[in-house]
Amino acid sequence: MFTPYTLNGKKVKNRFIRSATNDHLGNADGTVSDAEIEMYDVLGRNDVGIIITGHLSVSPDLAYRADEMQLCIGDDSYIEGLQRIPASIHKYDALAIAQISLAGPRGLNPFDFNDLSTKEMEQIRDWFIDAGVRACKAGFDGVQIHVAHWYLLQAVVNTDVNKRVDSYGGSDENCIRLPKEIIEGIRQKCGADFIIMVKMNAHNTESGEDDYGLLAYYCDTIIKAGANLIEISGRDFAKKSRTDSLYYLEAVKYLKEHFPEMPLSLVGGIFSKDTIEAALETADLVSLSRVLLTQPDFITKLRNGELVKSRCLHCNKCFEVFQTKYERCVFGPVLPKLEESFGQ
Ligand SMILES: Cc1cc2nc3c(=O)[nH]c(=O)nc-3n(C[C@H](O)[C@H](O)[C@H](O)COP(=O)(O)O)c2cc1C
Repeated sequence: MFTPYTLNGKKVKNRFIRSATNDHLGNADGTVSDAEIEMYDVLGRNDVGIIITGHLSVSPDLAYRADEMQLCIGDDSYIEGLQRIPASIHKYDALAIAQISLAGPRGLNPFDFNDLSTKEMEQIRDWFIDAGVRACKAGFDGVQIHVAHWYLLQAVVNTDVNKRVDSYGGSDENCIRLPKEIIEGIRQKCGADFIIMVKMNAHNTESGEDDYGLLAYYCDTIIKAGANLIEISGRDFAKKSRTDSLYYLEAVKYLKEHFPEMPLSLVGGIFSKDTIEAALETADLVSLSRVLLTQPDFITKLRNGELVKSRCLHCNKCFEVFQTKYERCVFGPVLPKLEESFGQ
């Protein structure tokens, strides 16, 4: 887990990724706050190899964000503030990746992509490509395109949800077309060195049964379009029981069986040294979210032999406390700035 890795020609100092985690610390106007910069600094200082931001909204209209604290990357005016994130991460020899997303069915103004015209779908494609260019200008090493967790692009690639009859629906090839065109566009505009990651759900049908073949087809298409790493997640990570672990390992095993060279990271239910080791038997990297919410120094402590297991209870209260209190975890504030303001 502490062996370096090369991602699209760039050195990653170990196999750890902080998976995208919406921090609810953003300013109401979609700009970056000081508390966020402190959070990235703490993560960088504590041995995370690749840090992925929380999802950034690609829409220029704040009304289409996922929530009122979500950061925005939908206009050039955000570039200056966003520059602070990679600047704080690069101090620690870690890679900085911007996750780009559109909430769609789960936004403040939910909409059904099946009702959009082809032109409007192309407009969304161009928002993502423009967001990739802004991330590049802001100094990020790359982007992660969010095709998971009930947001717009995941709905589009779900072959049961997608009812479109134009070039963006009606066949497996058409359902993956939008992410594919986004990758091609970002690659063309941001150059060969820019890292493009994609976060995918293990399952892409409503029943979620027997669809690993579909996942393999999607992932192969995405890699051929120019993506450098796929992170495998799933739509039900928040519903897993406290004793579950390595939620989507079977999907990663399936992919590696069919495409041994495909660069993959596994996210979900990796809470201990044992589960990290088990994941890395198959995946190239591991991605952690809740573990680093409750203990941002988890990796450092693991490396120093000070722990073998996270204190995370998998209670999922982090989803609630973020929205109601200026806090990160039921164990209380874990960042000095949040500590200062706690209780105010
Ligand atoms: C509070 C919270 C916010 C999250 N925000 C995002 C996000 O912005 N983008 C994303 O792709 N996943 C998000 N996730 C999901 C995580 O990246 C990860 O996939 C999931 O928590 C499973 O990993 P874990 O078991 O290590 O927590 C979030 C998770 C939590 C707990």
